[in-house]
Amino acid sequence: MFSNRVTDILGIRYPILEGGMAIAGNGELAAAVSNGGGLGVVAANPGWSPMTERIENVRQHIRRAKALTDKPVGANVPLFFLDNFANHQIAMLIEEKVDVVITSGGSPKILTGKLKAAGIKMIHVVSNVRQAIAAQAAGVDIVVCEGYEAGGIEGADEITTMVLTPLVAQAVDIPVVAAGGIADGRGFMAAMALGAEGVQMGTAFLAASECHVHPRFKEAIVNSPDAATVMTQRILGRLSRVLKTDFTVKMVDMDRRNAIDELKDLIASVPPSIIGSNPSPTINGQYRVQMLGDLENGDGAAGQSAALVKEVKGAADIIAEVIAGAEAIACRWGGIAAAAGKESATPAVRSARSASGARNAA
Ligand SMILES: Cc1cc2nc3c(=O)[nH]c(=O)nc-3n(C[C@H](O)[C@H](O)[C@H](O)COP(=O)(O)O)c2cc1C
Repeated sequence: MFSNRVTDILGIRYPILEGGMAIAGNGELAAAVSNGGGLGVVAANPGWSPMTERIENVRQHIRRAKALTDKPVGANVPLFFLDNFANHQIAMLIEEKVDVVITSGGSPKILTGKLKAAGIKMIHVVSNVRQAIAAQAAGVDIVVCEGYEAGGIEGADEITTMVLTPLVAQAVDIPVVAAGGIADGRGFMAAMALGAEGVQMGTAFLAASECHVHPRFKEAIVNSPDAATVMTQRILGRLSRVLKTDFTVKMVDMDRRNAIDELKDLIASVPPSIIGSNPSPTINGQYRVQMLGDLENGDGAAGQSAALVKEVKGAADIIAEVIAGAEAIACRWGGIAAAAGKESATPAVRSARSASGARNAA
């Protein structure tokens, strides 16, 4: 029912992508998402290894994913990670024959030539219309527009998925995938109605049984109330949506008071936990929550959609439920459309219908 340009380009059954999740996105999860009919994506540094060992770490997770599925597998390359290992990193992704690379946080232009020559599909994540147009011009196959509701690092413009998706969909010709706040069939269908041809989910897959994050972090996600997350690090110019805890509420308070030194001290006060790695204090806080379940001493990235996630289950079941929910809505809408066709509309509605039909056809 949901075959479209995204499923055709990526060679997947359902237009559902696992968002790259720097620490959380392990090979087993990627394989489970791909086996469920979506696109599984290995993270930039699953579990977190020292930066010099990062490329080998990602390679091992890609191999694990590929051993567990014969379906396409992707890898996430946040472009701010492209350091002096960049050439090795790209060479590794080509050697390991990943099917798709999802870039984020910069311009994909420097990578499109090399990766596409190797037959790798390219997707770029954007947070405003200008970035989407630039990504299309750079030659990517698909653009993901990620709204303000999403977990993790946010675009500075703070545009919601509801507004960003239709704006991007009308600005580019390549297919658009919506991300941020989507965790069930209702969100999937809303994204389709907004002009997307697929969805990217992060938070929903954090709670997948195959995801290697700590059970305490998963438990916090499935028990989330409506106000599940907060936006932090505004005064550091690095918006980051994380699970609401006593620790992250303190961070927000420091943001509000413009207490930049206090905030830096708090982030730096998180006990070191990654032996021999010397990660940035920000990564350390993420690691403590995601991998050690130490919610009291760190900040764990999660999106507003945490409030929609109610239990830990297999990634394939998560996808099956999204699709079943979406199909049920599509059937209901089919019935409504059939009934509306029989009604005689007012002249204003008739004229709006034909204008909207012409816009959709254009
Ligand atoms: C724990 C976590 C880590 C993330 N890390 C990254 C990352 O490394 N690279 C990236 O492009 N996006 C990252 N994201 C964003 C996701 O790829 C995805 O776009 C987002 O989660 C979608 O919104 P949702 O959380 O409402 O599902 C992260 C999200 C989460 C929840």
